[in-house]
Amino acid sequence: MTTTAQKTLNIAVIGAGTMGNGIAQTFASFGHKVALVEVEAAPLQRGMQNIRGSLDRFVKKATLTEQQAGEILGRITPSTDLAAALTGADLVIEAVFENEGVKKEVFRKVDAAAPAGAILASNTSSIPITRLAAVTGRPDKVIGMHFMNPVPLMKLVEVIRGERTSEETLRTTVAVAEGLGKTVGVSRDYPGFIANRILMPMINEAAFALYEGVATREDIDTIMKLGMNHPMGPLTLADFIGIDVIVEILDVLHAGFGDPKFRACPLLRKMVEAGKLGRKSGEGFYAYA
Ligand code: CAA
Repeated sequence: MTTTAQKTLNIAVIGAGTMGNGIAQTFASFGHKVALVEVEAAPLQRGMQNIRGSLDRFVKKATLTEQQAGEILGRITPSTDLAAALTGADLVIEAVFENEGVKKEVFRKVDAAAPAGAILASNTSSIPITRLAAVTGRPDKVIGMHFMNPVPLMKLVEVIRGERTSEETLRTTVAVAEGLGKTVGVSRDYPGFIANRILMPMINEAAFALYEGVATREDIDTIMKLGMNHPMGPLTLADFIGIDVIVEILDVLHAGFGDPKFRACPLLRKMVEAGKLGRKSGEGFYAYA
């Protein structure tokens, strides 16, 4: 982790949840100024606490000094005032709840308030960028910037080019992501892009294997973790991502391709109905303290 920026940018991150606070932390760690925006004070405070917690891990490992961690935090301004947070923004990254209606509403508001030259990026994991761009007056400046969780650690940013995204917006976005020490993979704007088009069927199949009693959750995870050299088994990863998020993404894939191979396993739906959403709710395929 470095704290040296190439060119200091004004970044506005909309949404202080897991992805939003990780994105804010990462930009601030590379010297950029970040406004972190939420509608209410409580989620904003939780987001800032998560950032502090993550920075503490780096301090413990001596990857950062306490002073550097303080400087990074100092570059992040929490805000509940969207218009004020967007003043002077070079790049706005939307990281709100994974729902098309909610995201479109945010894009309308951001388009109205952000400087004309600002790039508007979405951290969506599956919603078409072209549709989000269409509610703005600047579709050439709208792009997908799909970070992976945990954002400060994961090396990839999947960049999604909407139908009307300009070459210049693509070039700038790739350069910004690379300036954060990330490697970029570019995808065209089709359902699930690349990451989730391939990841979600694997997780869904693991859920079907458990649902059909082919193996225990532990054996499914062990086989995939050790056999494929994945850092986590698919059911552990599902808990990490959130079962509700997985069902949402599978539904987008199913609707977008009209292909039954993307139908969500009934077990996943049952878990969502029961509030077993994974780590964040304390229980998913596994129980968490
Ligand atoms: N901030 C700072 N440090 C963190 C951290 C965070 N948020 N999370 C974990 N760490 C650090 C830990 O402190 C620990 O450091 P040391 O090794 O130096 O002690 C290290 O990372 C490893 O953590 P753990 O020992 O707790 O656990 P782990 O070895 O399993 O690693 C992991 C955790 C990095 C998350 C790893 O399991 C992993 O890479 N898992 C897969 C993650 C993945 O696939 N993410 C993509 C999800 S899909 C997505 O995001 C997009 C989508 O659209 C759904």
